[in-house]
Amino acid sequence: MTTALIVLAAGKGTRMQSDLPKVLHPLAGAPLLVHALQAGGALDPARTVVVTGHGAEAVEKVATAFDDRIACVRQTEQLGTAHAVAQAQPALEGFSGDAVVLYGDTPFITPETLEAMIAARTTHDVVVLGFHAADPGRYGRLVMDGDTLAQIVEYKDADEATRTIDLCNSGVVCADAATLFSLIDAVGNANAAGEYYLTDIVGLARARGLSAGVVTCDESETLGINSRAELALAEQQFQRRARAAATLDGVHMPAPDTVIFAHDTHIGGDALVEPYVVFAPGVTVESGATIRAFSHLEGCHVSRGAVVGPYARLRPGAELAENAKVGNFVEIKSALIDTGAKVSHLTYIGDATVGAGANIGAGTVTCNYDGYFKHHTEIGAGAFIGSSTMLVAPVTIGAGAMTGSGSVITRDVAPGDLALGRAPQVNKAGLAARLMDKLKAAKTKG
Ligand code: UD1
Ligand code: CA
Repeated sequence: MTTALIVLAAGKGTRMQSDLPKVLHPLAGAPLLVHALQAGGALDPARTVVVTGHGAEAVEKVATAFDDRIACVRQTEQLGTAHAVAQAQPALEGFSGDAVVLYGDTPFITPETLEAMIAARTTHDVVVLGFHAADPGRYGRLVMDGDTLAQIVEYKDADEATRTIDLCNSGVVCADAATLFSLIDAVGNANAAGEYYLTDIVGLARARGLSAGVVTCDESETLGINSRAELALAEQQFQRRARAAATLDGVHMPAPDTVIFAHDTHIGGDALVEPYVVFAPGVTVESGATIRAFSHLEGCHVSRGAVVGPYARLRPGAELAENAKVGNFVEIKSALIDTGAKVSHLTYIGDATVGAGANIGAGTVTCNYDGYFKHHTEIGAGAFIGSSTMLVAPVTIGAGAMTGSGSVITRDVAPGDLALGRAPQVNKAGLAARLMDKLKAAKTKG
């Protein structure tokens, strides 16, 4: 069965108290909308339509960056969820198959649940995803008629008896696309909110002799984000699952509760991740690598046997080959640290290649930026960079070359050469003692 995905993302999210459209708030380093699109991606949809409104341009940018085949349609006035879905109809011209409606602010729907909904379509014309809520609050209520769904009643429109129902509407709906749009055409707005409710399609379907059914999932899957508090809760939920999954995969974390994952973190089994490590997006750590405490990694790749930290920062484009070592208070950006190379302390390496087995002394800086352009530093295999060397890029240090401590290197160094770029030392016999005596005398007098 071919499916189309309709993702509703036009709402403002007033309760977020933010200028950022709600669906762009980040969860595990990715906008909520991306989580929803990823969840829907499990159905391998033939078409995806994102309905935008508040902050449309920014939302559309994120949607098309996720997948440039996504069609974005604008809902200029937010007149309700049925009205929002109706906006998608022109974009689905010529499509036949099932349409699945998801919310851009609901990030945790699993592939299994979506597949169960598609499967339930063999018995029902309209399938709604429901859940038993611990606190049903203001959710729409699912009113059952035996095994089938009779109608959905919005909280605002529900009487006391209906409000006692704990089976709630998640908002996810699946139906044949043509049927869905034809039902939506019939939805009116004579209700407590004066909105066109998508939920009304259930009663309308029944009135046409169609059947509606419910697939249920765990409440944690349908968590929708409306406030910062809910976003924090979702983050907590995400982190709990990511830690559990990593542990299952064989990652050793002595204090998993202190490790922060991003939506796309990959860590191989038998890697050691010490306490208080933060993985921002785009990180892959191969098995057998060690990430020591208090390190921050983003957009980087750490190979087998490599050791990072404690207190290291790997920025986008950092590539650590096997057995490379990056120690405390070291920052690496857009740089390859090749096999077995060591950058052990207090160093900045940016826009550079550090050859295999090279050793970078404490306090070394690649001076890569002239205020306008970034320049490259090349350090050959087995080179030895003395402590506190300033490498003024662009500059190349040949294989096996050395630089003296404290050097400012502005010219290339040939393989095997030693470069000394520092003022020659002058020793003045007895001068320190005489100077101290003089200063001491001046202080006693004053
Ligand atoms: C909706 C459901 C309710 C369900 C709840 C689950 C309806 C009428 N009600 O209520 O049964 O229990 O979700 O969270 O569907 N949106 C638009 N355009 C609009 C209106 C909404 O794009 O004109 C988007 C919002 O951005 C949001 C989603 O649709 O992503 C849901 O809208 P929201 O107003 O939050 O619906 P609820 O009142 O929570
Ligand atoms: Ca909502």
